[in-house]
Amino acid sequence: AGMIKKKHNWISMLCLPFLIINGKVEIRAIRSFPSVPETFWEQHTQSDALWNQLQRHVDLHFNPILRPEKSSTFLERSIFDESLLYRSYFEVTGMDKVRDAVEKLPRQIQEFASYMNRRDYPILIHPDGDCGAQSKREEEPPLILFAIKSTVLNFRNRRAIRQTWGQVGGGYIRRVFLLGKETSEDLGVDVSHILRAESERHGDILQWDFQDTFFNLTLKDVLFWSWFSRRCSQPLFVFKGDDDVFVNTPKLVAYLHHQLEKQRPLHTMDEFMVGEVIGSASPNRVKRSKYFIPDGFYRGRYPSYAGGGGVVYSGGLARRLHNISKTIHLFPIDDVYVGMCMMRLNAHPVHHPAFLTFDFRAKEEDQPCSYHTVLLVHKRSPRELVDLWAHIKNTSKQSENVIMLGMQEDLFRQISALISSPQNE
Ligand SMILES: *[C@@H]1O[C@H](CO)[C@@H](O)[C@H](O)[C@H]1NC(C)=O
Ligand SMILES: *[C@@H]1O[C@H](CO)[C@@H](O)[C@H](O)[C@H]1NC(C)=O
Ligand SMILES: *[C@@H]1O[C@H](CO)[C@@H](O)[C@H](O)[C@H]1NC(C)=O
Repeated sequence: AGMIKKKHNWISMLCLPFLIINGKVEIRAIRSFPSVPETFWEQHTQSDALWNQLQRHVDLHFNPILRPEKSSTFLERSIFDESLLYRSYFEVTGMDKVRDAVEKLPRQIQEFASYMNRRDYPILIHPDGDCGAQSKREEEPPLILFAIKSTVLNFRNRRAIRQTWGQVGGGYIRRVFLLGKETSEDLGVDVSHILRAESERHGDILQWDFQDTFFNLTLKDVLFWSWFSRRCSQPLFVFKGDDDVFVNTPKLVAYLHHQLEKQRPLHTMDEFMVGEVIGSASPNRVKRSKYFIPDGFYRGRYPSYAGGGGVVYSGGLARRLHNISKTIHLFPIDDVYVGMCMMRLNAHPVHHPAFLTFDFRAKEEDQPCSYHTVLLVHKRSPRELVDLWAHIKNTSKQSENVIMLGMQEDLFRQISALISSPQNE
């Protein structure tokens, strides 16, 4: 799909800007579509696809035309609970014609559909303090919380992240890994005691009692928002991404500081989201794809969304997403779901070319230094993370990019301290 999956010499490319993400290019994103946003209401008025029907049921209660007293501001201010989702789920799936239609859906979608009204999974392992690794009450709010989707067996990825871009330090950075549950039967081995020990040592594991599958990833958004809103709402920004990405933390920190300065007077922080934005994508209809969504389940385009390999948004937006998500039925593709929530908030993710949630494009590959804006790259092994980080430490001694972004001296000192602090492993 116009992208190249080729071995790169990572080190030579490291005029690195910010973060990088994975090779899940496939047919999911069709970027060349003109972006003609249809409204969310129109998108599923007629369709009898399951998700559209369920959502229409909810929307009728919140429709600003039918119920002007429940306009969107009211909606945001009203008491949010999930009762409309439950009610609509049982009313819609209770109809015979819907039941018949659901039976024709592929097995994994049926499995999703049968649990999509549940999101009350308890937490099995809590992170330290209020807010992840080594957190304590702080006078200044942390700048960013790294919320990293991981799975039980990815011990090596977590270790590499702790040693590299996810190091906590200077009161600036918090870190938490988001995990579901995998039974010993699923894994063929019982590692629960190792995970407990890891949690005791690092205090950065947040695990819920749901099965950690691809279609359940959306639960890591809604349950994370809920935990964040209740337990850890101080960080100014949230990074949410995969455990196989590389983030250029110093550049990201500098970039976010710049955003704060730029946006504060405009009060736009409550809708701040940045990443690799995919506009007007159509659902993937290729049966063997991991992203396959049959038209019996969802009809219409996807809203613009930021690729889930790595995205950054403000803490304020995370709290609004938490609220609005209680009026939107779960969708099996996590980043698309976040896009749906954004659309309901009338907020728009901002595209930043430095978020490489797919991979490098052929023509850029020839110009390694065109990467000084890279914030994130996807699909890196733990070994590559360590090499990239070593390189960043070296190059960040030349402070040019940092100065370019208008960083003040004290911030630069803090970042330097962060980068040169001894590895905490
Ligand atoms: C979310 O909803 C709660 C309860 O209705 C409300 O108190 C809170 O202000 C809302 N938060 C945001 C950020 O909209
Ligand atoms: C999601 O997790 C629940 C709870 O563990 C499980 O019953 C369900 O099968 C999972 N759904 C999918 C689509 O894997
Ligand atoms: C870092 O810089 C030093 C001195 O310039 C050099 O010897 C070393 O190989 C560099 N390390 C990496 C990982 O680039």
